[in-house]
Amino acid sequence: MAARVLDGKAIAADFLMALKERSASVAERLGRQPHLVAVLVGDDPASRVYVRNKERAAEKADVRSTLLTLPSSTSETDLVSRLQALNVDPKVDGVLVQLPLPKGIHEPAILRAVSPDKDVDCFHPLNVGLLAEGSPFLLPCTPAAVLEILRRSNVPLEGANVVVVGRSNIVGKPLALLLIQKEVGATVTVCHTQTRNLAEEVRRGDVVVAAAGRAGLITAEMLKPGAVVIDVGTNRGADGRLVGDVDFQAAVDVASAISPVPGGVGPMTCALVVRNTVEAAARRAGFKAAS
Ligand code: GUN
Repeated sequence: MAARVLDGKAIAADFLMALKERSASVAERLGRQPHLVAVLVGDDPASRVYVRNKERAAEKADVRSTLLTLPSSTSETDLVSRLQALNVDPKVDGVLVQLPLPKGIHEPAILRAVSPDKDVDCFHPLNVGLLAEGSPFLLPCTPAAVLEILRRSNVPLEGANVVVVGRSNIVGKPLALLLIQKEVGATVTVCHTQTRNLAEEVRRGDVVVAAAGRAGLITAEMLKPGAVVIDVGTNRGADGRLVGDVDFQAAVDVASAISPVPGGVGPMTCALVVRNTVEAAARRAGFKAAS
């Protein structure tokens, strides 16, 4: 039987609809809408699309968004000054710098320059530390999106074997931290390019999260029959189309549930950026953190 296809677009639409209520209470207390500023340096076409999708998601939850576009010639010092101005702007709640940055700009320096209170990507070392400690303020968006899709699709995680393929700072590492939290309770294996026998590791997964950034890396033969597959890959195929890390056409006959690319994790990641903006604004307004 073909797998259930996990519709990230529909899940994100429900999530954003529900978020409107929290957004409205925060707006009432602040006397203005929660406000996200996205910073785009250079003219990478894919980054433009991602930022636009985040703006569209913001609109759906009545969150204001502003796009600050800077030329690829922007220096690291200029970019840091811009971020410092946003950090102290009382009308800005969330700030994100779309990655990748042009060559010559040291990414870690930029990620440290965003105030931890406004760091809706959860990239600042302080927020990464809080996550590792188990008391995060804002959750990393793509990992939280993966968890939210699994939770809303009633996939049990407590005691489950979850195999994460990829160890990036954006997905693999923070996702492993979220999954091993006591409230989630998964047993996690993180695989990467030095993993000796990828197929053997992946076959152990009740849930497999593919986040390696390599089209077709996860084949149907690697999967345990009935596994739940979440594809975080965003690769461009030869024809320019967006494809994931999983061979979807074949995996759909082996998995019990699978998220597609596009229309899976991507829309939910954008929704989580918006939730973080609302939560950053809520904290500014003196609200308690949402559970
Ligand atoms: N580039 C790829 N993924 C991300 C992300 O989650 N946040 C930002 N800011 N840039 C990215």
